Amino acid sequence: MAAAGHRTPTGASPVDGYRQLHAASLADPGEFWLHAAGAIDWITPPTTAVDASSPPFYRWFPDASLNTSYNALDRHVEAGRGGRAALVYDSAMLGAGRTYTYAELRDEVALFAGVLAGLGVGKGDRVLVYLPMIPEAVVAMLATARLGAIHSVVFGGFAPAELAARIRDARPSAVVTASGGLEPGRRVEYLPAVHEALALAGSAGTPVVVKERGGFASGVGDYREPGTHWVDWDEAASGADPAAPLEVAATDPLYILYTSGTTGAPKGVVRDNGGHAVALAWSMQGIFGIGPEDVMLTASDVGWVVGHSYIVYGPLLAGATTVLYEGKPVGTPDAGTFGRLIEQHHVTALFTAPTALRAIRRADPGGDAIRTHDLSSLATLFCAGERLDTGTSEWIGGVLGVPVVDNWWQTETGWPICANPRGLGGVPLKPGSPSLPSPGFDVVVLAPDGSPVPPDTEGSIALRLPLPPGALTTLWGSDERYRDSYLRAFDGFYTSGDSGYMDADGYVFVMGRTDDVINVAGHRLSTGAIEQVLARHPAVAECAVLGLQDPVKGQRASGYVVLKAGLSVDPVLLEAELVALVRTAIGPVADFRTAIVVEALPKTRSGKILRKTMRQMAAGETYAVPSTIEDPAVLEALAPLLRPLSAP
Ligand code: COA
Ligand code: AMP
Repeated sequence: MAAAGHRTPTGASPVDGYRQLHAASLADPGEFWLHAAGAIDWITPPTTAVDASSPPFYRWFPDASLNTSYNALDRHVEAGRGGRAALVYDSAMLGAGRTYTYAELRDEVALFAGVLAGLGVGKGDRVLVYLPMIPEAVVAMLATARLGAIHSVVFGGFAPAELAARIRDARPSAVVTASGGLEPGRRVEYLPAVHEALALAGSAGTPVVVKERGGFASGVGDYREPGTHWVDWDEAASGADPAAPLEVAATDPLYILYTSGTTGAPKGVVRDNGGHAVALAWSMQGIFGIGPEDVMLTASDVGWVVGHSYIVYGPLLAGATTVLYEGKPVGTPDAGTFGRLIEQHHVTALFTAPTALRAIRRADPGGDAIRTHDLSSLATLFCAGERLDTGTSEWIGGVLGVPVVDNWWQTETGWPICANPRGLGGVPLKPGSPSLPSPGFDVVVLAPDGSPVPPDTEGSIALRLPLPPGALTTLWGSDERYRDSYLRAFDGFYTSGDSGYMDADGYVFVMGRTDDVINVAGHRLSTGAIEQVLARHPAVAECAVLGLQDPVKGQRASGYVVLKAGLSVDPVLLEAELVALVRTAIGPVADFRTAIVVEALPKTRSGKILRKTMRQMAAGETYAVPSTIEDPAVLEALAPLLRPLSAP
């Protein structure tokens, strides 16, 4: 299949052809991305690729306009493909599902856009979406985009306080939610959480639209009280008029997605409309090799960037079918679930996180439960979200009988920084590497002084500015924080926060974060945010939280706390209280289970906790005790407590 935006040189091997394509994307980004822009239906087509007049801020397609929802839905209907399946909802939790054709999904989206418009939502307004993995999540996102408004989806595993922090920052004109989510063995009630979060944020009067699901304790009626504005989704939709897609500038924001940084305050990554549409359309063809006849199952959550890009926007922009799966890879009902989904929906591309594969392997080491299904439709397994270890990759490749393709990226970049361009024929896979930089990403590995390191030498992975279309344009409400977070370490470069190396063939190997961000079961968390919560406990004088290796979840947060002088507490009770505190303040997604009381934390003479040294000790890596250490005996005393976690 030919991908718009590239002209693979004839006669070159796939890898040389791809290298030339990548070099061309950096040498003349304007030519490359204007060509790629041909995959999108514009209201005003772009004549300029990038406005670079105010570095370090870059605006893609500054003279163009479009509507992203129109590109994801209407244009496929208008092209005579309205009867094609757009969205397949499959709920292992309910044992039920539903398929929406492009025409049906467009109609649902237009109607719900009418509901939002009726609540006063207009261009540039924010809509906070707090929904489980049900079709209404996709509808709410696309309806918001249809109005030129900005969605901010919050993952259901976050607690009210985290939801409140996002409400305070985004100041939404409406919140869209449902009665709750279904987790194995329990129902997660969303409405009390939304009610509490709005109260915490001082926004009790914000309109809340609720999709009622049966079987939950609380309903929309429970929250209709003076000073609030709670609306039933179905009731409102029955009286609404469908809304047409509204023209927005390519540079107008499409969404804000909050992600964890080094501090407790989440960072609102801002994505534009035009650059996003062009980049995702290119990635669907060039990287994933997915066209209108394909069926993509991305087993993630709409609350994460992988869900935004490859459950919702990517497949729909490509006119393909996307499967929205409500369930887990194991236990709903068993480790063969992905096999069932592949067989039942004729999935051609599966995308998931390595942690899900490790969970399947642990439950079914032979992979028999998956193999009982007809997997013949499947062409490729894509993996991202955390480092893909070779053992897991080889195991699942053997079970599924397809190539396992790692790709490395972040909430900030919106699409793979490094990947194997399967749509262009692919390049040879190297174990442990997500392959080569994608077009537009100028990847370098830098030493602390900013100089490039030689091949095979580890350093900070950075991206030369400008970032390509689809990457973040700023952080919501704070250009300054955007600069501080990403652009200050190395002048002219975006710092990824990951360390790694590049081999002599230009393949990138990502080793892990250099900051306080950890990745637990594919969920990005801040150890700093967990430390802030622990520090609130009256018995805690100071604390450090580390991400320790976990055999299934990749990492898990572990806390080390020093008690206030003169206090004596039962460490078991204290641990239980701290675990409960984190669950209440951050949410179950933090999966925080271990808090160990220690005599003291290792520090430099200036009082900085030696978190990096503690992390290295826990990982069994070689470490050098910094010469500035205040008391080496403290580190020695901690050594027996710092070790990888065993399976839960
Ligand atoms: N709403 C409410 N609670 C949620 C939730 C949600 N959407 N998602 C997870 N939780 C809860 C879980 O129920 C669990 O609660 P518990 O402590 O009461 O058991 C807790 O958060 C921890 O969840 P998780 O870390 O996801 O563990 P798990 O045992 O439920 O599942 C995996 C483990 C590996 C199967 C699962 O995490 C997974 O599929 N991960 C892939 C992640 C992913 O797709 N990441 C995106 C990048 S591709
Ligand atoms: P998120 O923003 O939640 O997507 O998390 C981004 C972080 O996850 C990156 O900075 C990496 O640390 C990690 N990550 C994502 N994909 C990969 C991958 N393929 N290999 C190694 N690490 C990855």
